[in-house]
Amino acid sequence: MTEALGPGDEELVRVATLARQRAYAPYSKYKVGAAIRSKRNKIHTGTNVENASYGLTICAERAAVFAAVGAGDVKFDAIAIVVDGDKPANPCGACRQVLAEFSPDMRVILANVKGERRATTLSALLPEPFLSENLPR
Ligand code: THU
Repeated sequence: MTEALGPGDEELVRVATLARQRAYAPYSKYKVGAAIRSKRNKIHTGTNVENASYGLTICAERAAVFAAVGAGDVKFDAIAIVVDGDKPANPCGACRQVLAEFSPDMRVILANVKGERRATTLSALLPEPFLSENLPR
């Protein structure tokens, strides 16, 4: 599902685009930038950080969430993800699950450096996530 871009979305994309320039992607050469806006209106950024031991790579989206949580933010309105590709790219499944831990209904703004945008929601990208309420008491 594609939704309309809301106020502040372009700013979030702009911040994610700047973050993308700091991506560490010497192996794939595929730089990703993310910017996540908390409910108290703070923006936290992340980039993908690759490793010579490839499997240790972290995606931009998770890097942004972890930076936010480390700064005390755990509730989010929206995340913007910027790539250099023919089309905006979807976040991987692992990142969807990590985002859902905090705000399963957040908006997700997908963008590429060419200026294309698509707005959707995390609940559309990951319906029925595994959440803390599924754990036994
Ligand atoms: N990557 C992300 O940063 N986010 C995603 O959602 C998918 C993939 C990164 C990981 C790796 O550094 C590169 O893109 C190629 O997979």
